[in-house]
Amino acid sequence: MKNKFTRRALLKGALITAGSVAAAPILGQTHRTQSAVGAIPRVVTGASQKVSYGPSMGIAKLNANENPYGPSPMALRAMEEAIKSGSYYVSAVPKLKAIIAERNNVTPEHILIGSGSSAPLQWLATKVTRKGHILGPDLFWDTTTKMGSANNDYGIKRLAKTKDLSIDLTSMYNKISPDIEMVQVTNPNNPTGLTLSPKDLRLFCKKASKKAIVLIDEAYNELTSNPDENTMIPLINEGYNVVVARTFSKIYGLAGMRVGYMIADPELISKISSFGLGDYSLNQAGVAAAIASYNDEKFLRYSKEKIVEARDMLRDAVKENGLKPLPTSTNFMFVDLGSLNAEEFRKEMEKEKVLVRGIYQDYVNWSRVSTGKIADVKQYIKALPKVLDKIS
Ligand SMILES: Cc1ncc(COP(=O)(O)O)c(C=O)c1O
Repeated sequence: MKNKFTRRALLKGALITAGSVAAAPILGQTHRTQSAVGAIPRVVTGASQKVSYGPSMGIAKLNANENPYGPSPMALRAMEEAIKSGSYYVSAVPKLKAIIAERNNVTPEHILIGSGSSAPLQWLATKVTRKGHILGPDLFWDTTTKMGSANNDYGIKRLAKTKDLSIDLTSMYNKISPDIEMVQVTNPNNPTGLTLSPKDLRLFCKKASKKAIVLIDEAYNELTSNPDENTMIPLINEGYNVVVARTFSKIYGLAGMRVGYMIADPELISKISSFGLGDYSLNQAGVAAAIASYNDEKFLRYSKEKIVEARDMLRDAVKENGLKPLPTSTNFMFVDLGSLNAEEFRKEMEKEKVLVRGIYQDYVNWSRVSTGKIADVKQYIKALPKVLDKIS
């Protein structure tokens, strides 16, 4: 009886919802409607809205550090094949772990693969902030640290700002107090794009990892001029308490396929990924694309060349317009707008169909722009003097 009632109420709810959708006056408009089971407002989006999987035509999307040159042709073919087995849970993770392990001279047990590097990064943050704080620079990619620590007793402790926006490793080391469980360094850093001296970072990792876990987020490593020199992965094999996160979202051009990985001591990996946490966050197509792309040197070289070309164009253009970019070895650039407000700049650029990031924390005069297709970068360059004139 109870079941019947519930089903009828649900059916009624479905009809109300369908009715409001049919009455949607404007394509894609969002409506608030009343739930059939109570007075809880529910958001219903127009059923006739065109599904969109990327930026609309004419929009230069330069706000999320994606690589529009992916997926590679080999990744596309692999995905096409893999989705035919979409009814099955993912079984190719051991293969992906094996090729990553081989290249990095670690065992598959050192590797945790998840839905983007965000997933393992968040799981790690959840684990450590039950015990202590995470120490980071004032400005770094802290999204997963915030997500992971949200319901825990400990959170993020930040270093003081530095004048040149670099990460002060000496001060970081000195700040490792007993309540710090992990230190987190994004290298190259986001949003600054700055890369630390590999020699200094290696020394820091060796010393700091005696006091706390050291996490190096290397999402943009492959875009630097010397990825092998800049990575801290070898320290893991040498037995240091170092964790490295990497992703398929950047140079591999697979941000929407959600695959990333973490390399660490197998004991730590098993602690943060019990009950198959990693595998359950994955999907057939993403794993297939990652396997197909990982050693696709031709595509990786092409991606990097295009990113460097776009980066050079951006740097020249912002300088010509009197702005100061930070040096970057990534697919984005942090630009000092002088006295101009970065949110105002973002809004005006959006009117020109160019999407860039708004303000970070209290860095109100800094604007981050990603590299994109060359045509997108040209659109940014064309809009730049117009917008600067408008808001100056
Ligand atoms: C430094 C850094 N780490 C990690 C990520 C997470 O990316 P994903 O979850 O797509 O691997 C990002 C995304 O922009 C990032 O900038």
